[in-house]
Amino acid sequence: MGIIKRFYFVTSYLLSYSIMLFSSTAGNKCKLIKIDTQNIAMVFTVGKDSSLFFDYFGPSIDDASPFFKKQSYRRDDYGTDPLVYPVMGGRNFKQPALSAIHADGGLNTELMCVSIDKCVVDSGNVDRYLILLKDRKNPFYVELILESFYKENVITEKVKICHNESAPIVLRDFYSGYLPIRANKYYLNSFSGGWGMEMKLEETLLTHGLKRIESRKEVRATQAENPSFMLSLDVPLSENYGHVIGGALAWSGNFALNFELDEFNILNIIGGINSYSSEYTLEPNQEFYTPEMIFTYSTRGAGDITRNLHDWARNHLVYDSKSIRPIVLNSWEGTYFNYDEKVIKRMIDDSKALGVDFFVLDDGWFGNVYPRNNSKEGLGDWVVNKQKLPSGLTGLASYAHRRGMKFGIWIEPEMLNPDSELAHMHPDWIVQEKGRPLTTIRDQLLLDLTNPDVQDFVFSVFDYVMKQSPYISYIKWDANRHVESAGSLYLPTNKQSYFWIEYVRGLYSVYGRIREKYPNVIIEACASGGGRVDYGVLRYHQAFWTSDNTDPRSRIFIQYGTNMIYPALATDAHVSISPNHQTNNQTPLKFRFDVAMSACLGIEFQPNQMTEKDLAFSEKAIKEYRKIQPIVLFGDLYRTLSPYDNHGYSSLMYVSKDKREAVLFVYCFEFQGRNILPRLKLNGLDCGLKYRIEELNVDSSVFWGNGSVFSGQYLTNEGISPKLQRCYDSAVFLIKSVE
Ligand code: DGJ
Repeated sequence: MGIIKRFYFVTSYLLSYSIMLFSSTAGNKCKLIKIDTQNIAMVFTVGKDSSLFFDYFGPSIDDASPFFKKQSYRRDDYGTDPLVYPVMGGRNFKQPALSAIHADGGLNTELMCVSIDKCVVDSGNVDRYLILLKDRKNPFYVELILESFYKENVITEKVKICHNESAPIVLRDFYSGYLPIRANKYYLNSFSGGWGMEMKLEETLLTHGLKRIESRKEVRATQAENPSFMLSLDVPLSENYGHVIGGALAWSGNFALNFELDEFNILNIIGGINSYSSEYTLEPNQEFYTPEMIFTYSTRGAGDITRNLHDWARNHLVYDSKSIRPIVLNSWEGTYFNYDEKVIKRMIDDSKALGVDFFVLDDGWFGNVYPRNNSKEGLGDWVVNKQKLPSGLTGLASYAHRRGMKFGIWIEPEMLNPDSELAHMHPDWIVQEKGRPLTTIRDQLLLDLTNPDVQDFVFSVFDYVMKQSPYISYIKWDANRHVESAGSLYLPTNKQSYFWIEYVRGLYSVYGRIREKYPNVIIEACASGGGRVDYGVLRYHQAFWTSDNTDPRSRIFIQYGTNMIYPALATDAHVSISPNHQTNNQTPLKFRFDVAMSACLGIEFQPNQMTEKDLAFSEKAIKEYRKIQPIVLFGDLYRTLSPYDNHGYSSLMYVSKDKREAVLFVYCFEFQGRNILPRLKLNGLDCGLKYRIEELNVDSSVFWGNGSVFSGQYLTNEGISPKLQRCYDSAVFLIKSVE
């Protein structure tokens, strides 16, 4: 599709003198802007007074000229037509995307369009639109930066704010993106939860007023709510039918997504950094960038939203997204803090026998003055505990290497125990407000990442660990508390409210330095489980630890929610012991494997506590996983049965991009009596191809057609009904084209 079609310059537009003053390119002549991807479009028009109106977001519209004609019928007297970036001031009375106190104390901002530029970032796929807006009165500017991803049907938006007023201005709201949506009913699907129960899907029929999804915890920001959503228009969310909008924010601190249903029945969606307690003073000529909101649209239900987001994330965002992820054995649930060198060496040997790629040593390896033998002391003192591990990380990593195993290590560099050498050396580095007592969570305090010295320290922790051995190539980066009694001894007294934003910027700056020096190391993001499940961290991390809850029954729900937005490629899922340490639930080993194999499989049990039979099963399952891993990590996700549909089954499948291979997972997590079997109509296959079905992880199959060849058409229209009736029955099928 040519440039003309994808970016309309419908007519020449005589810009007002103030616009002319700031215009410099041909782009500013346009009156209608149409941003297209393969299947969706966004349309803006410049009004008579140079206001930039938001006309449309939805499925493609080839001929956008009616939007242009519609201009003359705007009700200028009301001033209520949605703007592309609605701010506090003038006639806007809804939740603003931006509010500022100007140098002269004025509270109002009214933006007019100054110029519009387009550049091609990646020919044929990624275009960038820079739309410069200026306040009508003050030299105050907002630049909207939109990027369209043609193949993935995603449009991202962020803004740059700057000014040239006579004195500093104060920013009070500074959101990244806005969507006005018109439908008859709005079903918001968002994710709530807590520790061990992250990403629980909730659907809410929105009524008039404001519904807000947010975090004010800064760290572990995504455990209770997630900065992402699916909005189903007119009807409740369904997998394959209906118009749905998807959105997510790439930010790892306080966030807010506002859904305001107004008196005109327009749903106003505004998302970005949470302005909670975060007033930000902007000096003249200083630039303030927001993170990106990511938007997509589907006319075929939730499934396409997921696939769009996964494709976009794998092609444009997730760190090192083209690499297969390793299978790790993590020591945490196997040993917790109770180990010594002998135990770890034996675990490394046992990991090798199981056939995993990495052994990852979790918490408990450091601290001498304050040995880290429990959560109460030692955090912050990143020197190996010589008593526990006399040969150090260097010795252990070499040991692993000699046995053909890769080695990884756990760190939590943003945090410290009050009982640590670090706390005594640098009390001023701790997040706090002078004169108020320090409060601990999980016995620990938080370092003030707004402080460049702390940033250097956090970098040095990573650097130090990496320097212990050339054989360390995996880091699990944990963060086990959130912010309370926010405050910084580094920031000046009049800039304390910068804390929330500067913390995340400090974190990203450290990540940036680490990535420059260590581009190849695998870094898993963790924050008490799923406290950092967001598209901000995935720019730097290969994956996140999805939840501390490793019970497969819980994981069916946690992974279902997580993978609605985030790809399996980034979703770590480990097999642990039964009864489960978090839930006390008992499940068969096969069920645990079958659930973990639908994401990035790992192990989190102590092999020497397993029976020979279980070890043999595990070893085989790990081999089987390697057969399906590329399909799971890089394929298209189709959800075939939702665990939320109250039938006690859950099922999903991944289909390779060329549709020649697929893997189907099905889980029974409630007793089904005698008569019920799951009916699975497969999705995403090529109806013109023939496929052989092979059940994995079993001796005798639960499907009568195991080993047989079926047409894609049969599997799609008739489907299969594997015999799964008892609680915790499960099956994994590899489906391969025979042509
Ligand atoms: C919380 C993490 O989520 C766990 O996996 C483990 O690493 C512990 N912290 C260690 O303290």
